[in-house]
Amino acid sequence: MEQIRIAVSGSNGFVGRNLRRFLSEKKIPVTTLARKKHKQFRLEKRIVFSNLVEKNLAGKLKGCTALIHLIGTGVQTASSDYDLVNVDITNNMISLCKKSKIKKIVYISGLGVHPSTTFGYFISKFRAERQIIRSGLDYTILRASYIVGKDDPLTKNLARQASHGAIIIPGTGSYRLQPISVVDVSKIILECVINKKLSNKIVDLVGPKTVTFASFANRFAKNKGVKVKKISLEKAYYDALNRPSAAAYGLDDLNILVGDYTGNYEKLERLCGFKIHAPVL
Ligand SMILES: NC(=O)c1ccc[n+]([C@@H]2O[C@H](COP(=O)([O-])OP(=O)(O)OC[C@H]3O[C@@H](n4cnc5c(N)ncnc54)[C@H](OP(=O)(O)O)[C@@H]3O)[C@@H](O)[C@H]2O)c1
Repeated sequence: MEQIRIAVSGSNGFVGRNLRRFLSEKKIPVTTLARKKHKQFRLEKRIVFSNLVEKNLAGKLKGCTALIHLIGTGVQTASSDYDLVNVDITNNMISLCKKSKIKKIVYISGLGVHPSTTFGYFISKFRAERQIIRSGLDYTILRASYIVGKDDPLTKNLARQASHGAIIIPGTGSYRLQPISVVDVSKIILECVINKKLSNKIVDLVGPKTVTFASFANRFAKNKGVKVKKISLEKAYYDALNRPSAAAYGLDDLNILVGDYTGNYEKLERLCGFKIHAPVL
């Protein structure tokens, strides 16, 4: 462990912040890679970049054992689309690993990614996965369901809805999630770096229990003391397409939810050699 230094891109995002806290508690040195300055934990070295092809970036990453590549997006805008963020930046990160002699890359893809997918977000994650597999680097690709913890994106969305008085359930809400806690995710990411059993593997990153979205939303609403409101899927998609800033769920949030993606947590437990816990929701 003492010889390890872990580079984390997307270090200021939800998973990045939680992973860095975990690594800092384990006294593992980290090099962060972000486009803005952010608070540092103990044993961190910070790299702020304005573009990933900057000449001196690779030199600053020298000495890192692995890169945890957490830059990604699940929402497209005119200036930041899936190709640019999920595919091209992954390519840049692979080049940086090679130039700085980092031999291992850990990447969080999406649960449900499949070669025959026709869904743009999954296509971008699939293409990013392919680039990583073909790179010749040692890799672990984790296909994640919902990662939950303090301030996770789904909880933040539901909390925002609660502040307006109700939690919206699109359609019946019978589609399922398989949440995993960000604490377990941090432990698993470290395991990917140190445990050869996870070398060159694609593994589902899911918790041991599935839960319907309706039950997830009902529990959340009860805790916050607000109502749930069911709306038709047609209305949910109409709002996402025509009133994106006011819609409860984005277009691709809906696609992922309604897709009802579940996975195999036992393989992950077997490879890691420890139990994954159902998160407290
Ligand atoms: N959270 C989940 O439940 C979940 C599920 C499946 C897959 N994933 C994947 O896991 C990874 C981490 O997720 P997360 O929840 O931590 O996401 P997040 O909170 O949205 O963080 C994403 C990070 O990517 C960075 N980023 C986005 N666009 C960028 C760009 N154009 N250039 C440079 N940096 C950029 C952001 O930087 P700034 O801080 O500067 O904005 C942020 O640090 C992502 O690849 C995501 O797709 C997450």
